Amino acid sequence: MSNRKYLIAGNWKMNKTACEGAELARQIVEAVGKQTSVAVCVCPTFTSLDAVSKALDGSNIVLGAQNMHPKASGAYTGEIAADMLRQFFVGYVILGHSERRQYFGETDAFVNEKVLATLANNMRPILCVGETLEEREAGKTIELVSAQVKEGLKGVKGEQAENVVVAYEPIWAIGTGKTATPAMAQEVHAAIRVVLKEVLGAAQAEKVRILYGGSMKPDNADALLAEPDIDGGLIGGAALDAKSFVSLVESAAKQG
Ligand code: 13P
Repeated sequence: MSNRKYLIAGNWKMNKTACEGAELARQIVEAVGKQTSVAVCVCPTFTSLDAVSKALDGSNIVLGAQNMHPKASGAYTGEIAADMLRQFFVGYVILGHSERRQYFGETDAFVNEKVLATLANNMRPILCVGETLEEREAGKTIELVSAQVKEGLKGVKGEQAENVVVAYEPIWAIGTGKTATPAMAQEVHAAIRVVLKEVLGAAQAEKVRILYGGSMKPDNADALLAEPDIDGGLIGGAALDAKSFVSLVESAAKQG
């Protein structure tokens, strides 16, 4: 068993107003805000950061963001910089989510700039990688995901490993109700760990948490989280409801 602490992170995507987000955060805090065996993070929209940050205040639940621009400030209309996130005590930043790669043209090189900027600003990147169904069927999953991890983490130093999180999210499993089987996910997570060893060194690679994302729900979480290289989940749909999100935190706590 590894000594990596499980991380259950909720990606709320483009859902919830500030009021609704604060209410959801309050419900999560009430249920699991004091527990310490699992790291828990919620990633609301930018406009909800302030209200959700206040709702999480005094709890062990960490605020996350869904994106960040690599530059410190400037003429980048519609973008958000690191210190704007840090003002609300953001601890994690989701980067390179497949929806951003697909709909907003984000490249590995741009995602890499964001990863480096996030670490430089003392926040933890959650680097998302994953293949399409076509790529899986063509047998390209490991090659593609390995390249995404390598490119995304270029320039990251071994000593930064414990602040790095990678999320494996097969695109065909996101929001579809289709999940990778635990064995399928573990195969890719193990391959990601091999790449992490090359990039960060063998000992440091053991410190990186690799999350699974893609229709993770209370009824499939136990089996996924039991795999040796699955260190938590990046949750979309099931993170929008306090009861199911809390149940996922409890699943991770049970793995001990
Ligand atoms: P779902 O859990 O809704 O499939 O979304 C996963 C995801 O994209 C998390 O980032």
